[in-house]
Amino acid sequence: MCGIVGFTGCTQAAPVLLDGLRRLEYRGYDSAGVAVFDGERIEMVKASGSVEHLAELTDGGAKLRGTSGIAHTRWATHGAPTDTNAHPHLSENGRFAVIHNGIVENFAALRAELEGEGYVFASETDTEVVAHLLEKYYDGDLKRTVMRTASRLEGSYVLGVLCADEPGRLFCVKEAGPLILGLGVGENYFASDVTALVSRTKNVIYMDDGEFAELTSEHITVFDRTGREITKTVSHVVWDIEAAEKGGYDHFMMKEIMEQPRAVKSTVEPRIRDGKICFEDFDLSRAELESYNKIVITACGSAYHAGMVGKYVIESLCRIPVECELASELRYRDPIIDGHTLLIVVSQSGETADTIAAMRECMGRGAHCLAIVNVVGSTIARLADSVIYTHAGPEIAVATTKGYTTQLAALYLFAVWAAGLLGRIDEARYAGLVSSIRALPSQVQRAIDLNVHVKYLAERWHELKSLFFIGRNIDYAAAMEGSLKLKEISYIHSEAYAAGELKHGTIALIDEKRLVVALCCQEALFDKMVSNIQEVKARGAKVLGLAPEGNRRIFAEADDVLYVPRGEQLFTALPEMIPLQLFAYYIARENGCDIDKPRNLAKSVTVE
Ligand code: F6R
Repeated sequence: MCGIVGFTGCTQAAPVLLDGLRRLEYRGYDSAGVAVFDGERIEMVKASGSVEHLAELTDGGAKLRGTSGIAHTRWATHGAPTDTNAHPHLSENGRFAVIHNGIVENFAALRAELEGEGYVFASETDTEVVAHLLEKYYDGDLKRTVMRTASRLEGSYVLGVLCADEPGRLFCVKEAGPLILGLGVGENYFASDVTALVSRTKNVIYMDDGEFAELTSEHITVFDRTGREITKTVSHVVWDIEAAEKGGYDHFMMKEIMEQPRAVKSTVEPRIRDGKICFEDFDLSRAELESYNKIVITACGSAYHAGMVGKYVIESLCRIPVECELASELRYRDPIIDGHTLLIVVSQSGETADTIAAMRECMGRGAHCLAIVNVVGSTIARLADSVIYTHAGPEIAVATTKGYTTQLAALYLFAVWAAGLLGRIDEARYAGLVSSIRALPSQVQRAIDLNVHVKYLAERWHELKSLFFIGRNIDYAAAMEGSLKLKEISYIHSEAYAAGELKHGTIALIDEKRLVVALCCQEALFDKMVSNIQEVKARGAKVLGLAPEGNRRIFAEADDVLYVPRGEQLFTALPEMIPLQLFAYYIARENGCDIDKPRNLAKSVTVE
């Protein structure tokens, strides 16, 4: 949540900072602000609303002179999204400006202490304590001041600090949130995400928790918590800025839906050599794999839904018990996890706070952790024992699409690889599954091509107030994701139910105003789904059925039909999601919703 960016160089800072903010807006978009050092003092403009609004107020940054500065786009935690609560926050003497991503958990105590000393607070935010602490501790040594200030903070805080007494110098601090340094020529940067940097540099340093950095136009110096200078590896970002732009589409979400054939291919192809699955960055021997008596998958939101699909597929192929649990629940339990547990953590961003906490909890109990992650160099990728990168490329739309489908592809690869290694499937089945995985990109393309009439269905159904998604087994796991996709971008209430469970209570809500989306892609369970369809139709509901291409029976049962390309039954959740993503997209568009930036949401949930 919240995007931060910092720049120091020889050109005007504000336009560069605004460009960075535009690319970070997916992280939070209720207010934005920028502060630059103009040679004498800190100039600041901030306001509720979008980065575009901030750009208007500053004439694209032209109104703010100065060649070093910091900027922020906010997802409110403490205090409403008002002009005053927007970041940056200034110290009382106006000599410090600070931006923050995270939550200062002890802010109430710090605020009381500072107010007791006479500091006057302008905002309701937790962040403002940082600005006052910087002023309080400043003794002419900015590095020492930043360290002292950070040592007073509890919780999660990624900070950017600008000081009017230290021209051209910026500091940034990382504790539990993403922070990346960018190395330019005669200019340097920091940001929450590489997407804010790639238009200016591809040479980056991924910061670790407890580290902080000093930036001038010529140098970047990184320190550990004790203030000791440390040497960090410079990484090279492999994708281009076009990957983080809309490329002619109206929305990032549509662009990312359309990118899925290529994204899934990028997950799959590098891992299949001579018909065998192999991972460049992850390997376990058969003896190691056999030593695990269970697998625990943990994640949040859509990544959790991918994990639910993974549970069905891994159990079916490997015959190892798999639990899939929400990270926000797992982190506060006393889970039965030890060195015989293989933990699989799934995350697009690699920065989700609950997922990181659950992961730490389980690793602390001895679990070996395999992370399935998209963002290279992210916190989860670096904490895990092993990583399978999904290589989906940057995902900007808040609602995940290619992030989710590539997670499924990685889980399928893992399941087939593990089943082969453990000898739970014979060679012919292994070869068949590998070629089914290789067929996924073209199946996804076919799912896109098959469903030109999704838009028409969305026009017909967009006024609905509430609907249900039902399915059994893998279709149930897919129903959860289909339902989330719709509700998060269209704000229409929707629930996913295991089809057989409706009659145990929820069927009371079914009436002639309800649409039920019935996922019927598990052919062995088709007849059971038909019974459930009949139950809801008997109560007046309309049914939109999803079934494998060529299934004629579905037309007799459902009012409308979406076809899903045929393929391996275990892998249906992946092509099945394409029409559901499109359905959600077109409904949201019909309803005039802000598709890429749905209300109340942010892409990377780095707070609890
Ligand atoms: C929904 C969505 C979220 C994320 C969740 C986990 O479209 O994107 O539910 O899936 O916040 O995020 P990651 O995968 O980054 O850990």
